[in-house]
Amino acid sequence: MSGVVKVAFGSLSAPKGSALVAFVGADMKPAPMVTAQFGDLEPLIRAAAKASNFRGAQRTALDILAPAGLDASRLVVVGVAPGKDNAPVDFITLGGFTFGKVTGAKRVEVAFEAPAGTWDGSAAADFALGLRLRGYRFDKYKTRKKEVDDDSSEAPNFVIGSSHAVAARAAAQDRFAVAEGVELARNLVNEPPNVLFPVEFADRVKSLEKLGVEVESLDEKAMGKLGMNALLAVGRGSARESRLVTMRWNGARSKRTKPIAIVGKGVCFDSGGISIKPSAGMEDMKGDMGGAACVVGLLHALAARKAKVNVVGVVGLVENMPDGDALRPGDIIASMSGQTIEIVNTDAEGRLVLADALWYVQETFSPRAIIDLATLTGAIIVALGNDVAGLFSNNDELAQRLAAAGEASGEKVWRMPLGAAYDKLIDSKFADMKNTGGRSGGSITAAQFVQRFVKETPWAHIDVAGTAMGSQSSDINQSWGSGWGVRLLNRLMADSYED
Ligand code: BES
Ligand code: MN
Ligand code: ZN
Repeated sequence: MSGVVKVAFGSLSAPKGSALVAFVGADMKPAPMVTAQFGDLEPLIRAAAKASNFRGAQRTALDILAPAGLDASRLVVVGVAPGKDNAPVDFITLGGFTFGKVTGAKRVEVAFEAPAGTWDGSAAADFALGLRLRGYRFDKYKTRKKEVDDDSSEAPNFVIGSSHAVAARAAAQDRFAVAEGVELARNLVNEPPNVLFPVEFADRVKSLEKLGVEVESLDEKAMGKLGMNALLAVGRGSARESRLVTMRWNGARSKRTKPIAIVGKGVCFDSGGISIKPSAGMEDMKGDMGGAACVVGLLHALAARKAKVNVVGVVGLVENMPDGDALRPGDIIASMSGQTIEIVNTDAEGRLVLADALWYVQETFSPRAIIDLATLTGAIIVALGNDVAGLFSNNDELAQRLAAAGEASGEKVWRMPLGAAYDKLIDSKFADMKNTGGRSGGSITAAQFVQRFVKETPWAHIDVAGTAMGSQSSDINQSWGSGWGVRLLNRLMADSYED
């Protein structure tokens, strides 16, 4: 895959043609490491700063071309002065921002040291992670790269100079495991639906086996035997077979510790089915497997960094299409749990997939906790936009842990209510429940539906319809498919569940 940025930790020489990156605060004084190796650059930086009104603030930079006294062809000065709130520097964001300021360079050397004081190895590793997240590109289907699009020139090679290089290299191994997980999730979301259909998705999950993840894939026949009629009903209108894939990573000291279960909606394309969607924007529904992509990316990250935790990932993979044999509004189906569902809208398909996937994971693994991720409702985008995901939970402790992991990772969640008054809205005249409760509170009634398939286990449902795809470009993400959730859940595991 294109777009994996090369980052190494080593010594700097800033040779001809390279770009040298240095950091300054409001006083324009570069770090001692810069002065020791490249001489006193302060006068040069001061003069250039004056000419362009650069004051050293965070998220600002100064690009000095053909810097006098240096072999390097550019000196890129990045501001790290404390802001009004005096918040500590976010090194992942700093890495992403820096990447955006060195486009066109082939070799970039970063003098990674605070202007005054120190930045440790884990800061350098975070910076490197930011470079990788920002540098990700999905251009495998573009046949005319360089001629057409300036921005698709090769990413630079980075060398990070740090006085904590040994610690940085060690810390970066874990960070790169996470970066790979995010990159994998982004790739899955970005792939077109003619390429990434359920069976192909399942095949790609198999690649986790080389990291020591146990992967098992159920075909339609096997799911039929288990009574997964809700999931199978969604795939009935598609020419593509459905799959249910289980991934197990047993990294905890005791293999017998009950796992944390992570369940993902994997609708590889959602046309709406017989309740077909309008044409405008329907192409975006290739990303309706964003929840499943996050599960796979997370399992990759955990296995690649050998996380000390037992996790089981389950993804329900289907395609929702209209067809002579497709599910109809009015149909009543029996889910694996035994509960019956009246279909009133075939476009409310994700919850049907989750219903059986959740039941299966409880029956098979008796997990300690369950978290599901799904691009479940357009209504969550109306409520929260594209930067924060909707969180629903039956357990305050789990909800708080997720909120804290969100703050720490920058992948934020906002808790939404659940309750009997909402639950009532999905009661059906003919069956145990119907599959939508109408427009009001659409994300909440969807979550209530999902909750009807959860027993006593602590459970959280994260509606990622707004965050998994189509967010605004940011310092650390320029990709349509964001890989959102991999860093959130990786953080949750590290902070709350690892030995
Ligand atoms: N996959 C969609 C939700 C979605 C919308 C995800 C926009 C990402 C962006 C889901 O299957 C769906 O169609 N939901 C319906 C539910 C309705 C029929 C009750 C919706 O949100 O309109
Ligand atoms: Mn739908
Ligand atoms: Zn959907």
